[in-house]
Parts: sequence; structure tokens; C-alpha cells
Amino acid sequence: MLRLIALILTCSSASGFMSTLAPAPRLRASTTTTLSAQLSRRDVLTSTTSAASAALVASLPLDAWAADPKLGTKDRPIVVLGSSGKTGKLIVEKLLSLNLHTLAASRSGTSTFPPSPYLTNTQVDVTSPSSLTSTLSSCSGCVFAASASKNGGSALLVDYKGLSYTAQACVDNGVPKLVVVSSGAVTRPESVGFKITNVFGRIMDYKIAGETELRRIYSTSKTSHYTIIRPGGLSSSPSTGASSVEVSQGDILSSEIGREDVAELVVASLTAGGKTDDVTFECYGTGGETLFGMKTGPAKLSKGLESRDELIHRSDSFEGLVTGLLTDSEMAKKGIVSTYTGKDIEPM
Ligand SMILES: NC(=O)c1ccc[n+]([C@@H]2O[C@H](COP(=O)([O-])OP(=O)(O)OC[C@H]3O[C@@H](n4cnc5c(N)ncnc54)[C@H](OP(=O)(O)O)[C@@H]3O)[C@@H](O)[C@H]2O)c1
Repeated sequence: MLRLIALILTCSSASGFMSTLAPAPRLRASTTTTLSAQLSRRDVLTSTTSAASAALVASLPLDAWAADPKLGTKDRPIVVLGSSGKTGKLIVEKLLSLNLHTLAASRSGTSTFPPSPYLTNTQVDVTSPSSLTSTLSSCSGCVFAASASKNGGSALLVDYKGLSYTAQACVDNGVPKLVVVSSGAVTRPESVGFKITNVFGRIMDYKIAGETELRRIYSTSKTSHYTIIRPGGLSSSPSTGASSVEVSQGDILSSEIGREDVAELVVASLTAGGKTDDVTFECYGTGGETLFGMKTGPAKLSKGLESRDELIHRSDSFEGLVTGLLTDSEMAKKGIVSTYTGKDIEPM
């Protein structure tokens, strides 16, 4: 059913433009190499200083300094909320592959991952503020990949209130960065994608209500920041590299994207530091949908929307895709951001 929703969500415009691209080369290896270098510096910097470690630091590439050495340490791991979910699991795996200490947080607290010295499993219910506070009190970053589920709670409880509680707990506990997996089309209630998806527990209304409350909470914080990622319809296709992905802003364009690519963008947003502070962006595959065997290309969510080239980002690295994005305040001045904040939303 989700797959059907994914197709509808991202194939909803009759005015979508067609694009067919040759398969892009796999670029994950080079991306991982750069980040591994960053982590080597981080590991050295957070261990006992010695002449040997100083020499190792000096020998690493200059751009390696970009990584925050305080991110994903043993004492201050990165927490992934909803780690048992399909995207959450991939995010945890990606963080572990970079030797970043990770707290995999799920409702059950049961591990679904192979043992790793960088992994700790924990039990967190995002609908419980106290459960969040105890987990977030010593984290260097947080990812919100939870969403309504049969036993975990409705969209009202998880996507709206759960996200709001998470944002508040991050700000209260000085967590430097919260990265949220939301959804494309949340600000476009006129789009077919919004309408069809919203049938399921009004999930789109509650997702935009959660985003709105999050922005309100962060507006008073100078030290904690957020990134909101809005993917198009999700698929389980393996990543074929950043060149097969487009990032844009304004909630205008969409198409299908693999969860693995979303996980890459989540991690790139976390490691990008200030470049992704207080930023919202959409992400989708450049190939578009596979609809009846045809690739449709990214499409406008609805006919009247204006797509601006300056807001579309392409790169051969995931770090490049999240570089040069505009903050939400800067985007507000562009005159294309929808002011939709959800219909008939219960107060917090
Ligand atoms: N499907 C699409 O096409 C599409 C398109 C755009 C955006 N998105 C969004 O992308 C995100 C990731 O999607 P996905 O398919 O990877 O999600 P998913 O597999 O449905 O995972 C959601 C996770 O949230 C957890 N959860 C539910 N209630 C919770 C609670 N109270 N406390 C803690 N965790 C809780 C669930 O755990 P339990 O299973 O234990 O309850 C589950 O592991 C979601 O926000 C989704 O709405 C999806």
C-alpha cells in the first residue's frame, strides 16, 4: 500500500517534465572515503594526544577538519528515533559504517543490528516526553525517523506531538542538531499526493503541524538547530549515488527516492555542521517514477507551482547536495513558500 502511495505522491502532476538519464556511477565509495578521513581525525582528536596521533592528524586531508570531532562520540552519541523503521535502520547502519557512536532508539529497545562497538540500543517512545528527555540529555545529534505505526501511535501522537516533544527535548538538553525525516508535499494540500496520503490518519496534516511546532520551538534557540528533509515517495531501491538524486527547496518538485539515499542525506545533513542549520529541503530521484515501466522524471506537485533553477541542487556527492541551501528564513523571502500549517489541528 505504501508503495502505491509513494507512486501517487510523486506522480501527481500532469505538468511534470520528462527526463531520462543514463544510470549514474556509484559514488558512495568516495563519499565514504572522505568521511572516513574526517572520522580518523575525530577519533584521534578525541583520544589521548600523542606525538603519533598528532602526526596522523597532520597527514590527513585538509577538508577532513570539516567534521565536528564532538559528533557521535562514545560519551555523546547520535540518537536515531524510530531505528526499527525501514529508513531508521539504514540511517543507523550508515552512522555505524562511519564509526560514529550511535544510540538506536526504538519502542521495544530490542536490537535488530549486528553487534558493534559503536552501537547502543535503547528503548524510547517518542510520545513520552520523559522518555525523550532521559535519552537526549547526552547526545551530540538526533535523527527523527519515527512515524505513525499500528502499535506506536497515530500520526497525531507520533508525527505531530512526538516530533514536537522531540524538538523541545533537543532544545532543552542543548542537542546541537535535530534532523527530521518528514515528507514532500506537506505544504501542498491541493496536490494529489497530499490528498491521497492524507486519507491515512490525516498524516500529512499532522506532519506539517509537527514541522510548524518544531520551527516555533527552535525560533527561541541560538545553540540548537534543525534540518527537515522531505523525501518523495520512498522505495527500497539501493542507492546509485548522489548523481541520481536531486535536492530542492520550496516544496515544488517530487519523485520517487530510495530510502538508502535518504539515509545518506540525513547523515550528510548531520555532518555538514552549520551549512544545514535551520534548513528544509526536498529530495527525490532524478529518474522519477517507474510507472508502467516508464521513468517519468521529477514532477511539479501541482500545476500552478513555479520551479526555480536556483533552488535545485545537483552534485556528485551527498555533501555537495546539502551545500548552498537557504535557511527557512531566507526561503520565506522568496515568495514561493506555502503558509499551510495543517487543517483542524489540535493544540499541543
Ligand atoms: N512511504 C513513503 O512513500 C513515504 C514518502 C515520504 C515520506 N515518508 C516518511 O518517511 C519516514 C520514514 O518512512 P519509513 O517507511 O522508513 O517508516 P517506517 O518503516 O514506517 O518506520 C516508522 C518507525 O516509527 C516507529 N514508531 C512508531 N511509533 C513510535 C513511537 N511512539 N515511538 C518511537 N518509535 C515509533 C515504528 O516503530 P514500531 O514499528 O515499533 O511501531 C517504526 O519503526 C516517515 O516519516 C514516513 O511518513 C514516507
